[in-house]
Amino acid sequence: MKKNPFYYGGTVEKKYFCNRVEELKEIKKDILSGLNILIYAPRRFGKTSLVLKALEELEKNNDIKFVFLDLMYLSTVEEFINKYFNQLAKTLEEPTDKVIKFFKSILKIRPNINASFDTSGNPNFSLSFSGEDIDKTLEEVLDIPLAFVKDNKKIVVVFDEFQETINLKLESKLRSVIQTHSNKIAYIFMGSKKSLLHQMFLNKNRPFYKSVKHFKIKEIQSDDWDNFITSKFLQTDKKIDNVIIDKILNITKGFPYYTQQFAYEIWNITDKIADELIFEKALKTILDREEDLFSVEFDTLTPNQKKALKIVVSKNGKNLYDEQYLAKYRIKTGSIQTALKGLLEKDILDKNVDGYYFQDPLFEYWMQHI
Ligand SMILES: Nc1ncnc2c1ncn2[C@@H]1O[C@H](COP(=O)(O)OP(=O)(O)OP(=O)(O)O)[C@@H](O)[C@H]1O
Ligand SMILES: [Mg+2]
Repeated sequence: MKKNPFYYGGTVEKKYFCNRVEELKEIKKDILSGLNILIYAPRRFGKTSLVLKALEELEKNNDIKFVFLDLMYLSTVEEFINKYFNQLAKTLEEPTDKVIKFFKSILKIRPNINASFDTSGNPNFSLSFSGEDIDKTLEEVLDIPLAFVKDNKKIVVVFDEFQETINLKLESKLRSVIQTHSNKIAYIFMGSKKSLLHQMFLNKNRPFYKSVKHFKIKEIQSDDWDNFITSKFLQTDKKIDNVIIDKILNITKGFPYYTQQFAYEIWNITDKIADELIFEKALKTILDREEDLFSVEFDTLTPNQKKALKIVVSKNGKNLYDEQYLAKYRIKTGSIQTALKGLLEKDILDKNVDGYYFQDPLFEYWMQHI
């Protein structure tokens, strides 16, 4: 039996990677010039996949060495120090005894370095240090990458889900240390919570204010998805009509995770040719699966936010202060303004020159149909 040629969930590599040619080129150029960049996009938009692909290509070419740190679920500075140290130690040096020896020699305050091994025999490193040494240890760990810079090989450090550090009071120290790394080390800050990242990078009173290049990634365009989906069906001896692909993109708007999810589900139930009936079946499967999450998300909203969201759906994000609608939903102009602000802060809506729009296209579709 043939394997499904589509994938959704975690990071995707080559086989499942569609387009992003321009973005890859630009990121690689920025990294090689040693720029620090900030990449934000909604959840499941393909940030991690894109950055890893760029970094792997540069590393293969021997231009860089990269360290990738996922900061999801981080809650203390000690955790940050240990997570980062572990990642630096594992990525930059081997084998284990050399790691310990080398790091002992470069850390001035000489904390204890502990190594443990997981069930597959991979090492994990941590530091023991006292509470009063936190600041110094942090500073030293942040400087570790410098020791690995070579003449024509940059170090690139990626902080994924960087917004998770917002309450750790880490920013000043981090900013002042990495400033001294100039273009020898390139830093990539990534995350999915736009409102938090905006606070961190666009607020004049915060250390990272205007210190990085903002890198925007867009949805993958229809033509690219057309080619990608059509050819993957053909390669596996199945067919999908353009009309069906249009139906998919009409709902997903090119959002990578959902587009792959539709293609995956449709492929699964297609014997030879994907038709409308199959599309409807796949749509139902996907909505059934996502519905619980959407209704939980909707339930967490205030009554006015629920009303505002319904108006955004009905008015397609434009002219939201239409009196007819305000009367229908019994909401005042001031309240809808506050509600919209809250929806932006919760990263449910976003805004551009045309008006408000949903960050999650399937959530919007679900709202249109309840
Ligand atoms: N370039 C791409 N081509 C095809 N599919 C992609 C691409 N990028 C992402 N995807 C789809 O989106 C899914 C999520 O990708 P990825 O984990 O890189 O996104 P993310 O923005 O880092 O998500 P998260 O917010 O969960 O960290 C993948 O499993 C895949 O289905
Ligand atoms: Mg990610």
